[in-house]
Amino acid sequence: MTSRDLSHFDALLFGGDYNPDQWPEDVWQDDMRLMREAGVNCVSLGIFSWSKLEPQPGQYDFGWLDRVMDLLHANGIWADLATATASPPAWMAHRYPQSLPVTREGLRLSFGSRQQYSPHSQVYKDYAAQLVEQLAERYKAHPALAMWHINNEYACHIAECFSDAGAQAFRVWLEHKYGTLDALNQAWGTAFWSQRYSDWAEVTPPRSAPTFVNPTLQLDWKRFSSDAILDLMKREEAILRRITPNVPITTNFMGFFKPLDYWEWAKHEDVVSDDAYPDPSSPVEQIFNAMRFDLMRSLGGGRPWILMEQSASAVNWRERNSRKQPGQMRVNSLQALARGARGILFFQWRQSKAGAEKFHAAMVPHAGGDSRIFREVTALGAELKSLAAMRETKVQAEAAIVFDWHSWWALELDAHPSADVKLIPLLVHHYRALYHRNIALDFAHPSQDLSRYKLVVVPNLYLMSDDVAANLGRYVSAGGTLLVSPFSGIVNQNDHVYLGGYPGPLREMLGVRIEEFAPMQLNERSEVVTRDEESFACQTWADVLRLEGAQGLAMFTKGSLDGQAAVTRHRFGQGTAFYAGTVLDEAGMSWLMNTVISAAQLQPVLDTPPGIEAVRRDKWLFLINTTDAPASVAVPGRGAVTLKPFDGWVGEVTA
Ligand code: GAL
Repeated sequence: MTSRDLSHFDALLFGGDYNPDQWPEDVWQDDMRLMREAGVNCVSLGIFSWSKLEPQPGQYDFGWLDRVMDLLHANGIWADLATATASPPAWMAHRYPQSLPVTREGLRLSFGSRQQYSPHSQVYKDYAAQLVEQLAERYKAHPALAMWHINNEYACHIAECFSDAGAQAFRVWLEHKYGTLDALNQAWGTAFWSQRYSDWAEVTPPRSAPTFVNPTLQLDWKRFSSDAILDLMKREEAILRRITPNVPITTNFMGFFKPLDYWEWAKHEDVVSDDAYPDPSSPVEQIFNAMRFDLMRSLGGGRPWILMEQSASAVNWRERNSRKQPGQMRVNSLQALARGARGILFFQWRQSKAGAEKFHAAMVPHAGGDSRIFREVTALGAELKSLAAMRETKVQAEAAIVFDWHSWWALELDAHPSADVKLIPLLVHHYRALYHRNIALDFAHPSQDLSRYKLVVVPNLYLMSDDVAANLGRYVSAGGTLLVSPFSGIVNQNDHVYLGGYPGPLREMLGVRIEEFAPMQLNERSEVVTRDEESFACQTWADVLRLEGAQGLAMFTKGSLDGQAAVTRHRFGQGTAFYAGTVLDEAGMSWLMNTVISAAQLQPVLDTPPGIEAVRRDKWLFLINTTDAPASVAVPGRGAVTLKPFDGWVGEVTA
């Protein structure tokens, strides 16, 4: 192993979670035969094997894992070897009940499922560290070891723990952040409702309380919880870096997963990886799938990333679990590949015959190798082999959507003007308009340099520091095109409102001043009319907005806001800042995006019929039909490409 990226692996990674500890050893031989047949070259190994590796505290049994690692190597398969710390054995819960997590209501959870550890438990941390040390020492020179898979989907079930140990760790984190109680009282606005603290020991997590808990306390608790779980990962990372400095590290993400600030997390990974389970029956989730893959690429700064888990067909955890239609698993895989993936893996290799996930599809289903699912898996393996040349290539985007976890947390706290202003629906609303036009886009952190983008979209940034506002201002004044949507720039990092008219730090750049909000009721609709006399419905939100330099592009036409600006444009420096003070319907968003895209002079990858993605990765053009209807796309220099329902086409193009 010579480098910590994956550039020395000469293939697109293909495989899945491999849990041989669930099966008798004679099945392993069959696994190898079928893996070879399917073209599997990488497995995530032993993610839930802690109780088999350490059956008694401090007593390890690696014999079986040695045999699996040797088998994999003999069959030319790399191991993304798990540190196995995702689900501690029964002995830990039994001997150390304090290691179990505690809910907001004060309930200590029990053993019997998985992830039953408190992120603040020293016992858990110590045993996890010992296990990782043992694994790293034992396999550091094993030729099958390709990558470390730290833990598994951190926080997927337990994102916060309200134990006393958690409370104590929170105080330490706060002391580190604020230094003095005075500073904390100031930042949390504890003058309100008699919440002043006079001793650190008085500070508690946001446990169940009579009514709204102090919002800055809640926000800091979310920051602290993300940091505390990241700290678990960093502990494992430190051990692995010391013992195997050249082996790349990943931990699998869950897309737009609210509890963890993945911008911070990604800094500790050599390769970003993601687990994606779009509902096969939902067309909108096919778009969401594309959106999360764009996020994954962006989290790694554009580096190739890995689709670590997806399902070969149905999952088992929805109320009703639709199967993937023939071709649909391939289509979901191509969506990832088109957006820069360097490997396509599944949960899991062989479908379990017992346990909570026995009805979750796998690469080898209950029916065995003679099955539609396994044939599609095998065909995908062959296709990935033929596309290996793209493995280290990147995707170029000229547009970006700004996305920030801290603002997301703050936006969705309680006691706001409208509970309907939620981040993900707003993101999807904006993303979809760009997606349908085949505009390549990245996600961007609000404080990163934005100058390389022609268009930057802010679906919402309720919370924004002065520095972020200045960053956006710099971007526009240097010639950028910016679109900001409502309820952005309202509070600072402490969730304190910017005074003097909203959105405080953006007023000058946007050329508007908002005196009041006029949120709408759930089924209420209003209407706007554009300067070209087009009218669109709008919902959820309306700003009572005064133009201070901006030009009104669309005006409200109803009720008390009749005639007032709803959508604005303002020249600022060399660039243009658009503001939408309401949530337009899809047709309205389409009009707005057309306006913004033409101001930014952005070009689509290709014009395609609805439901067909055109994505460019280096010299490869992907056409992906995520729908169940056939389609035909005109490709310059190639003529018409026809696509069956749930079908994809990948070709090299020169232009
Ligand atoms: C993931 C998890 C896997 C498996 C899968 C089922 O959340 O990492 O272990 O449970 O979901 O969809």
